Amino acid sequence: MANVVIVGSQWGDEGKGKVVDIYTEYADQVVRFQGGNNAGHTLVVGDKKTVLHLIPSGILHPGKQCLIGNGVVLDPQVFLQEIDNLKQKGYMQDDAQLVIDGNAHVIMPYHKAIDVARETRSGARKIGTTGRGIGPTYEDKVGRRGIRVADLVNPEAFARKVREFLPEKNFFLEQFLGGTALDEAAIIAEYGGYGRALAKYVGNSSLLINQSIAAGNKILFEGAQGSLLDIDHGTYPYVTSSSTVAGSACIGAGTGPRFLHQVIGISKAYVTRVGEGPFPTELHDAMGQHLREAGNEFGSTTGRPRRCGWFDAVALRYAVRTSGMTGLAITKMDVLNDLATIKLCTAYDYRGQRLEEFPNDLDILRECTPIYEEAEGWQSDLSGATRYRDLPPKAAAYLDKLEEVTGCPVILVSVGPRRDQTIQLKNPFQDGALPSP
Ligand code: GDP
Ligand code: IMO
Ligand code: MG
Repeated sequence: MANVVIVGSQWGDEGKGKVVDIYTEYADQVVRFQGGNNAGHTLVVGDKKTVLHLIPSGILHPGKQCLIGNGVVLDPQVFLQEIDNLKQKGYMQDDAQLVIDGNAHVIMPYHKAIDVARETRSGARKIGTTGRGIGPTYEDKVGRRGIRVADLVNPEAFARKVREFLPEKNFFLEQFLGGTALDEAAIIAEYGGYGRALAKYVGNSSLLINQSIAAGNKILFEGAQGSLLDIDHGTYPYVTSSSTVAGSACIGAGTGPRFLHQVIGISKAYVTRVGEGPFPTELHDAMGQHLREAGNEFGSTTGRPRRCGWFDAVALRYAVRTSGMTGLAITKMDVLNDLATIKLCTAYDYRGQRLEEFPNDLDILRECTPIYEEAEGWQSDLSGATRYRDLPPKAAAYLDKLEEVTGCPVILVSVGPRRDQTIQLKNPFQDGALPSP
């Protein structure tokens, strides 16, 4: 029996949502532990597509409880809208399926306004954020002037905190960022309404998870973003404002490291990135365009085109290290179907020197050029493969190569967006091979 952590091992959008949806079948509870609605997780079941930003990707499974941990930052309006959408589609018929921890921080309107105005002011030096107020909310959390979900559902506490914090935010917005001041009464009225609407979902997710672990249940910890967007280990400052590595699951869900048993890193068979920042294997040519079109690489949160490039084993080994990954799920193999030759970067060249490890220094990383190995493409359609033995030998050889250059076993292969377009090699909750069908 095991608890499993899912994290992105690149710059986000690796297909975490799809894999969480699949692994929910083996788990009793799913808990999201960091990030906010900067995330966009797309799930496709049959011909029905669902995009989630905040609610855990286990929610399509009735009877599996989904929790939003204390480590998440929550935009109440987006949260309520997401619940409405799910209910309209016939999901989440039981409100008890969803719990938000009272200690999660609330994204306030001034956080969003500051995020957008700061990016505009930064011009060419912008981070390329999603504009959802994520950074400013985490700043206030660490600065001890945040507003938590428990405050939002307590009208007196909420109004008192808005009155206390808003003057400073308005001063900064107007005087420094050249924006418009926000109205105190309007915020209190609007957010008071959200507080009333979401009060029934508020609980103590840490308590529930630990009671569940004690009862022998299996927990799936759902990460958002990716290892290279981690606030400490990512390509700082071109990162998000939370810890995205596996260790963050303990803090953001309120449990201890001894309860995390398997860490599965989700990775595309190539690499994408949205927003600014270095990306050594980025392709600016027709091949980059081909990956973008074949992979439909447009963000599910902002619709921005994703930057595309070849698989980067240097960056992936770094992600394996910082999260202690025990297995990899490789997604989007089908996007490479048509290629005669596939490149993968196994080391960087920095001023004539061969680097095997991901450099900490962004100035060095910016100057790194990839050293590639080539693999033969399989040039056939993988999208109908459901068993490992359905894969053409050259696709299997590419997966073997990925294992070799990353030092991490591949336990799942995804060959299309749908739930059933998946080949599972091992069940991480049982640490054993699945019987072959
Ligand atoms: P997440 O943020 O990591 O959950 O990933 P996103 O949902 O933002 O982006 C992944 C995109 O790829 C979504 O549109 C998925 O439906 C899609 N997807 C996931 N796995 C596969 C796959 O194996 N093949 C293809 N073609 N698309 C996939
Ligand atoms: P999922 O969970 C891809 C990127 C933004 C920007 C940087 C900082 O869907 O994989 P932020 O709004 O967080 O302050 O932006 O991080 N970013 C993501 N990129 N997928 C995500 O989430 C992302 N969440 C944030 O594009 O470069
Ligand atoms: Mg995404």
